[in-house]
Amino acid sequence: MTTIKTKILRGRILSFRSEPKSPEDRHAFTYEEDGAVLIADGKILASGSFDEVVKKAPSETPVTDHRPHLICAGFIDTHLHFPQAQVIASWADQLLDWLNDYTFPAEIRFADKAHGKRIANGFYDALIANGTTSAVAYCSSHPNSVDAYFEEAEQRGMLMLGGKTMMDRNAPDALCDTAQSGYDDSKSLISKWHGRGRAHYVITPRFAITSTPEQLEAAGTLLREHPDCHLQTHLSENHNEIAFTRELYPEEDHYLGVYDKYGLLGPKSLFGHCIHLSAHEREIMSETGSVAVFCPTSNLFLGSGLFDKAEVENAGIRTAVATDVGGGTSYSMLRTLDEGYKILQLQRQRLHPLTAFFWATLGNAQALSLSDRIGTLDAGTDADIVVLNAKATPAMALRMETVETLSEELFVLQTLGDDRSVVETYVAGQASKTSA
Ligand code: GUN
Ligand code: ZN
Repeated sequence: MTTIKTKILRGRILSFRSEPKSPEDRHAFTYEEDGAVLIADGKILASGSFDEVVKKAPSETPVTDHRPHLICAGFIDTHLHFPQAQVIASWADQLLDWLNDYTFPAEIRFADKAHGKRIANGFYDALIANGTTSAVAYCSSHPNSVDAYFEEAEQRGMLMLGGKTMMDRNAPDALCDTAQSGYDDSKSLISKWHGRGRAHYVITPRFAITSTPEQLEAAGTLLREHPDCHLQTHLSENHNEIAFTRELYPEEDHYLGVYDKYGLLGPKSLFGHCIHLSAHEREIMSETGSVAVFCPTSNLFLGSGLFDKAEVENAGIRTAVATDVGGGTSYSMLRTLDEGYKILQLQRQRLHPLTAFFWATLGNAQALSLSDRIGTLDAGTDADIVVLNAKATPAMALRMETVETLSEELFVLQTLGDDRSVVETYVAGQASKTSA
């Protein structure tokens, strides 16, 4: 071990072991008032009380003192769109009009690699500013955009997942591939990027409306040929989307049946939205271990509907939470949790702040089957870390005067916090926010 790259971060540390079963479930997380994380070569070597961690560190290891701030695993965003960085905050009607009027025109510009490179830079700055250290993104249908996306991630040392959007109908010609070219391009991008450094490739048929049966068949073939890749698509977000899908695939009993028919379900499959699922669809999601991804700010912005977390989880479905930029309105997982809380309030479900913070870290890591690498401060995992200040604004500081517990503090962070609450973001042990 070289001492050069070894460092200690000191502060209040919070890391989850499992999903809190109740607000009192102390076994679900570790919290140290005077805690520390020992980092070497991009990995966490130890975490715990400062005194214990110091004993494990080589002498002279530099200490970055983040007290009184909170040190947590970096946030993980399980669904967003890299080419929509200039679509976010577009005044539009609901999903299908929003796609046609704003999203597709913006994505066409990613045919130009230079454009992709420039947007990638701003996109990653936004993630880092918001404490997000890993994310799962749709790139555009142009292989160029995937290169721009992963090249920037590689430069920053980030564990990122993503893939070329496959779409061969119901979109402008300039965005459409074909079943064959979508397959070929995805395949060569997998061989170029999957497993290179921290990159993970995600097979990405946009949704049933923009893929022919031949293309979904090709996506299923890719998944069978590359079982360690993830797959992502959209499911049951909007009523008009569901109706159009039923028209395009009349032989299927329900929307999920389309994806099921082509072998797209499974524990590495991420389905964005899942708002209007039938009981039968929920059953199939659960049996296959597929993941439902809740995108609160997007669901409100596009008027898509209210994700029923209790119904989905009671059916045994794995869940994740995400921004869905640019249908979503913020890169911040704190803003996302805030809107998620409100969506659940409307359904008489209360998202406890411990559950919320679990979800945005270890919960999302588990949903991606990556909890051995990211999502906690456990020894042996990657040193992707966020440092949070619950007094970042005058209003937060005033509110914090009356806060007595960790849960209350987390709730202030998720309700009032945003990028101003992110003091620092460490990517593989490197301070990346203040150096940006
Ligand atoms: N369904 C198909 N494409 C998209 C997209 O880009 N955003 C959202 N929110 N839903 C979609
Ligand atoms: Zn999406």
